[in-house]
Order: sequence, then structure tokens, then C-alpha cells
Amino acid sequence: MTSGERLIALLAPQPGEQILDVGCGIGDLTAQIAATGAQVTGLDHSAVLLEQARLRYPPITWIHADFLLAEPAPIYDAVFSHAALHWIGHYAEAAVRLHGWLRPGGRIAVSLGGLTPALAMMESGLPSATALEGTLRAAGFEVVRIDSEPGLLLAAARWPR
Ligand SMILES: C[S@@+](CC[C@H](N)C(=O)[O-])C[C@H]1O[C@@H](n2cnc3c(N)ncnc32)[C@H](O)[C@@H]1O
Repeated sequence: MTSGERLIALLAPQPGEQILDVGCGIGDLTAQIAATGAQVTGLDHSAVLLEQARLRYPPITWIHADFLLAEPAPIYDAVFSHAALHWIGHYAEAAVRLHGWLRPGGRIAVSLGGLTPALAMMESGLPSATALEGTLRAAGFEVVRIDSEPGLLLAAARWPR
């Protein structure tokens, strides 16, 4: 199972749920989430990657925005972000911004690292599981689970009601 598939399993999307995919890139994982019957929206700051996503998956809604600057809309049941928060940088600030997009009681499934061995080497600056847990707690999340292995962190957390 890829790290993306593992993160989708951790997200456990339900039909009809509103889900935001932050740092969606060309949208392959966004489309996999949509295939579960969830209403998914992809967000990315790269116009080039989003154009690919639009061409490949026209029915999905795509938002062209910098996650650190975008005005959040608190309409989502869940936020998903695979291998993007550490590229967005300022991941502590990004964690705080995640809950701005969630309905009360909403949840997140996020990963840092985990793409390819070459990228994993570049991603050696990932936070520890303890540091990530602390960041999510400081941002107000109730941490449900963190899986940590070399070059990969997967986390699930809830935004309390
Ligand atoms: C390694 S790719 C992961 C793409 C996709 N989630 C996947 O797993 O295939 C990281 C993505 O984060 C996006 N990204 C980086 N900084 C961003 C920002 N500030 N706001 C929105 N997206 C950003 C990049 O454009 C890129 O698509």
C-alpha cells in the first residue's frame, strides 16, 4: 500500500462528506477520495499542477490558492493533506490554519514525507512524531493517531466541537 492509500484509509471518507485536499498537486489522490463518493475539493498553489488536475479530473472542484494565505471556508467535514505540509513550510502555522476549514467536530488526516526514497532523503528534516503531536495539540486538535517511520509521518486528529 502506498503512503497515499494508507492516508486515505486513515481518513476513511464517507459518501457525501465534504473533504478538502490541501496541496493536491495533479489530483490523483483527490480523485481516489472522490471515488469513495465524498465531495472533494483540491487546493494547490501551483497553477501548472492544477491545470493538469482539471484536465484529468474535470468533475472535481479545484481551488488555486496558497494555503498560508487563502481565506478559509469552514465547510469541510475533513481535511486531507498528503506529502504537502512540509513543502508548504511553516507547518506549525499550516496546522493552525487547517481547522479554519473544518466544521466543528471535523477531522484531519495529514502526512509529511513518504513520497520516494530520493524525496525521503530531502525530507530528513521532518519533525519527530512527538513534535508533530505537540504542534497539532497546540493548534487545538485532539490527536487520534500518529504513525511514524523513517521519512514518513501519518497523523489523524479531530477538531473538538
Ligand atoms: C509533494 S507534492 C504532493 C502532491 C499530492 N498531495 C500527492 O501526494 O501526490 C506537494 C504539493 O504541495 C503544493 N504546495 C506547496 N506549497 C503550497 C502552498 N503554500 N499552498 C498550496 N499548495 C502548496 C505543491 O504545489 C505540490 O503540489
